[in-house]
Amino acid sequence: MSGTKDAIRVIIFDTTLRDGEQSPGASMNLDEKLRIALVLEEMGVDVIEAGFPIASDGDFEAVSEIARTVKKSIVCGLARATKDDIDRAAGAIKPAERGRIHTFISTSPLHMKHKLQMEPDAVLEAVTDSVTLSRKYTDDVEWSAEDGSRTEHDFLCRCVEAAIEAGAGTINIPDTVGYAIPEEFSALIGMLFERVPNIDKAVISVHCHNDLGLAVANSLAAVQMGARQVECTINGLGERAGNAAMEEIVMAIRTRHDTMPYSTGIKTENITKVSRLVSTITGFTVQPNKAIVGANAFAHEAGIHQDGVLKHAGTYEIMTPESVGLTKSILVMGKHSGRHAFREKLKELGYTLGDNAIQDTFKRFKDLADKKKEIFDEDIIALVDDEVVRSNDRVRLVSLEILCGTKHRPPKADLDLEIDGQVKHCKATGDGPVDAAFNAIKKLFPHEARLELFQVHAVTRGTDAQAEVTVRLEEQGRSVNGQGADTDTMVASVKAYVNALNKLLVKREKSAPAALSA
Ligand code: KIV
Ligand code: ZN
Repeated sequence: MSGTKDAIRVIIFDTTLRDGEQSPGASMNLDEKLRIALVLEEMGVDVIEAGFPIASDGDFEAVSEIARTVKKSIVCGLARATKDDIDRAAGAIKPAERGRIHTFISTSPLHMKHKLQMEPDAVLEAVTDSVTLSRKYTDDVEWSAEDGSRTEHDFLCRCVEAAIEAGAGTINIPDTVGYAIPEEFSALIGMLFERVPNIDKAVISVHCHNDLGLAVANSLAAVQMGARQVECTINGLGERAGNAAMEEIVMAIRTRHDTMPYSTGIKTENITKVSRLVSTITGFTVQPNKAIVGANAFAHEAGIHQDGVLKHAGTYEIMTPESVGLTKSILVMGKHSGRHAFREKLKELGYTLGDNAIQDTFKRFKDLADKKKEIFDEDIIALVDDEVVRSNDRVRLVSLEILCGTKHRPPKADLDLEIDGQVKHCKATGDGPVDAAFNAIKKLFPHEARLELFQVHAVTRGTDAQAEVTVRLEEQGRSVNGQGADTDTMVASVKAYVNALNKLLVKREKSAPAALSA
């Protein structure tokens, strides 16, 4: 837990699965959302915003499944200020032990005039009506003033007062377009505390976007002015420049406890694991110099720094790598490690697999140990994740052979795929080996999906490292991310493409309309 026991508690509201998922290309399927929700719960997130149930059947299903599964965190569904939205959100959170409806409406002159085309009085009425209706379904209602930071103060005060009067227990003030600066944003929160007569009956929350790179600074300034809930996402994922990054908020509070005497319920040691999971699932890589979770965040390259850190870590290190769960890449296992040690390792890494899955993964671990001298935690994580993503696939890779290099022009791919239980074979050429392999997949399984992203990342150091590949496919407004890992980059690439295809097939079956965004 971050901060000391008696410090003022700040509620962490994670919206990776809702606002984060709204980033173009970051869409996740039900299983992926559930996996993220479970790690968020395990890390101590207070409120998980699981989706926007009216947006699509997939969103509804995801919120509902998360509500059914998560027990410790509050599970929240977003709704505009309409009966249909609120009814749908209420339906989705119904299975939750602790469910919240988060309803919102724009309050700034710009949004009311051009987006809503509503007069302020009608907006004010909608605030009362939406909160009142939400309260019929649950005692835990949050109300948000969209574009709150650009709202006239008098009107914002009237809306906030009306929302609390109607029964909202949490009032959220978003900086929707990331326009505010810290001094101004904290003054806005201070103004609400001063002028809204019933403000003491609600928790004040903030939700800052990062268009000017100030989302975390604005959130912390608001906390210092009395806000007690922060809405944020893992890795700062979110529309445009993203949302306030949870890891930065939490570690700033923990590291600068001297000036910010607050605490959160977050187990900071889980940060690295969750960050990697979100990055792998979405295909959104974390920039190397990103605070807290970037690959270089704890690397000391300059000789003078290395020397200082060796003499005393505090010279250049304001927090320890261990405090965010970053352990040195230690050699964990080798080809002589047995099944029992492997099972223990899985447990230590937080995986609970059934006997069959352990059996399969152990076999793949042995194959990997034959190809790769040193096996690190990261290798095992990639191995298990690779197994999990493929469990229900209709299309599977059987074998792949590539001929490429200066003597083989054009490169050729020889591919066997199992499609609905039948093995099919073909050969194809392409501009490069990846192109040839992907052309072969298209020949065996014709489709119109467009390749939007092809990304390769080495799981560990060394030329024998496993490659982790992400492929993003787009078809009729639906976008999916596929993953694949292998010591052979080409095999990993085909696995990732095939995985994306499988996800697309599931989406086609459900024929979800293109997602609506808040
Ligand atoms: O940025 C925003 O205003 C939002 C609201 C729906 C809370 O995401
Ligand atoms: Zn937002």
